[in-house]
Amino acid sequence: ADTIRIAVTPGDGIGPEVVGEAVRCLEALRTKHGLDLEWTRFPWPSHAWHEEHGEAWPEDALEQLQKFDAILLGALGDPGPMDDPERYLLPDSISLSPLLDMRKGFDQWVCERPARLLPGARQYLADDRAKDIDMLVIRENSEGEYVSQGGRLRKGTPDEIATQMEVFTRKATDRIIRYGFEQARLRADDRVRDGRTRTFRTLDGRTCESQVCLITKRNALRHWGDMYTEAFEEISQEYPDVAIHHELVDAACMKFVQSPWAFDVVVASNLQGDILTDLAAVLSGGMGVAPSCNLNPTDPDMPSMFEPTHGSAPDIAGQGLADPTAMLFTTARMLEWLGRKDPKLAVAGEALFNAVAADLAEHSCQRRGTREIGSAICQRLA
Ligand code: IPM
Ligand code: MN
Repeated sequence: ADTIRIAVTPGDGIGPEVVGEAVRCLEALRTKHGLDLEWTRFPWPSHAWHEEHGEAWPEDALEQLQKFDAILLGALGDPGPMDDPERYLLPDSISLSPLLDMRKGFDQWVCERPARLLPGARQYLADDRAKDIDMLVIRENSEGEYVSQGGRLRKGTPDEIATQMEVFTRKATDRIIRYGFEQARLRADDRVRDGRTRTFRTLDGRTCESQVCLITKRNALRHWGDMYTEAFEEISQEYPDVAIHHELVDAACMKFVQSPWAFDVVVASNLQGDILTDLAAVLSGGMGVAPSCNLNPTDPDMPSMFEPTHGSAPDIAGQGLADPTAMLFTTARMLEWLGRKDPKLAVAGEALFNAVAADLAEHSCQRRGTREIGSAICQRLA
């Protein structure tokens, strides 16, 4: 097999700190598992690069990144100096735009955001059934509310109008829903293997080992809501072993808090998935532990991008306080994903996941610094 090459883009804020720990773990894994793996660090995209060059990244950034097997990204976004009272008013679309450009440019049409409350993670819900929270939110990542079509009319006048169009195609709808059903099956298989089966009931009273819940807002946003629902019903016929469920997004928010343990795979549109996954992150212990990835499962020439759900957290940046756990779970998922090119990487990914989970279980919500957590996990890996 060829050498697997990773583009490492630490980005802004706490990004470089948590990515530093990810790289240390990769080094430990490379030695231990004899991985044919190398990485290149890029100073862009970042706010610093923007300050110096007047753009968030070089013009040929996407071409440069495309040569890699995966992109490991820390976090992007910098609202400016902490002492600037207007910092929260500054638009940050410049330093954030590469994120959306990468998703689009590499057609990373799946965003996977698992939310599983692992032992040791902070349990925000008082109900002890919270220990059974184990869902995978799959966010449509290529279109929908994020197509950025629209504009402002009569700008600056009292009669100003802002329009923002949403575009949903049947092709993108079908592929994300089908992906959801496939993941549901895989998850059921994994649970059988680990002896932690779950049961879900279908509408006609049968029991299944997995479930897909579709999220829409079809009572108000009829057009795409109806198309999503029809596609869901059609595709579900191919998966009689998977129970189906449908929630309106507002009700889903309520049920995520009220009974999150009842969800398995959740498929949502780009914006609704964005919002639901911040909520889901809290259900699984908070932003410090929530992994994420942006995948292109269809085109092997396009790199997928791995970045935690959290942002650049400028309020704690540079102090060694950021929890690298989310970044390390994300790195584990990257290795598992790259396992399709070299099975050794999948083994290393599982070892990393297990080490991070064991560290979490042992230290629970103890206050520890970025480096301390990273060192403890590296030690487990060696
Ligand atoms: C995320 C973020 C991004 C998004 C922002 C930074 C553009 O919130 O990855 O969830 O909305 O997708
Ligand atoms: Mn978000």
